[in-house]
Amino acid sequence: MTGSSQEFIDKIKSIKEKRQAVILVHNYQSPEIHQVADFVGDSLELSRLAAETRAEVIVFCGVHFMAETAYILAPQKTVLLPAPDAGCAMADMVTPEALERLKANLPGYAVVTYVNSSAAVKALSDICCTSANAIKIVSSLDADDIIFVPDQNLGKYVESKTGKNFYLWQGYCPVHAEITSAHILKQKNKYPGAKVIAHPECTMEVINLADEVLSTGGMVKYCRDLKNGVIIVATDIGMLYRLKKENPAITFIPASAKATCKDMQLTSLENVLGSLQNMSGRVTVNEDIRKQAYLAVKRMVELA
Ligand code: 13P
Ligand code: SF4
Repeated sequence: MTGSSQEFIDKIKSIKEKRQAVILVHNYQSPEIHQVADFVGDSLELSRLAAETRAEVIVFCGVHFMAETAYILAPQKTVLLPAPDAGCAMADMVTPEALERLKANLPGYAVVTYVNSSAAVKALSDICCTSANAIKIVSSLDADDIIFVPDQNLGKYVESKTGKNFYLWQGYCPVHAEITSAHILKQKNKYPGAKVIAHPECTMEVINLADEVLSTGGMVKYCRDLKNGVIIVATDIGMLYRLKKENPAITFIPASAKATCKDMQLTSLENVLGSLQNMSGRVTVNEDIRKQAYLAVKRMVELA
């Protein structure tokens, strides 16, 4: 760590106390951001923490939909996104207008929306899910016909596990689409006996080669339990920092070194400090939309 990084870290820690802030950090964030985290986790874990925290201010080191979900659950708090331009390419693949049109064409379908979506899309949904709970959420619904938005890959995977009838929105994560079955086969060849863990945003061809299909939080638990060996990791390479740090006896191999979410890397110590100093990067949601979106997110949190 450079001297200046340590200075930023010290300043962030001191102003955080003054502001009564909590810093929530997604697993993909860069190592320096992990140093200032109060909690590191996956989308579901961080949503839960946002809903439960007694802190006045939530600094969300992640992407926009995550900060928005925190605000949906805790509108009385100030939610700050230090990198205001940090979006999610998949979330941008569905608009509320287009979803409304689809719903009109498919009456009777339940709308299950992955949290990687805007508040306005969540507001049109019956229930939300994350990669950690999607199978459980869909299985728990009375409906057999499901509109699944926006991730076609997670949707296909959940469809294969629940046997329900899915209309799949054609969104996808470009970072996970970068990982192919050829990458996995190449690494398996190089490391015979290695386990493969894949995020469900990967394509089915990758999922079919995986030993375990897990959310980022699920990967943390799985590796903790495995204790040693070699693991090929099919997700954003940002995940490897935490996995390596917590499991020094395991060798981690990225499925593709090119799988990196540029939006997740927009958070820096500098913009975390700036947002706390100036209370900038505030994320809010129109109250009518928030109330509707809250119902879908709350149903998920209660069920999961
Ligand atoms: P997790 O909920 O598994 O952390 O995934 C979030 C995400 O954006 C993966 O690309
Ligand atoms: Fe969105 Fe993919 Fe980045 Fe996750 S990794 S935030 S799904 S673009």
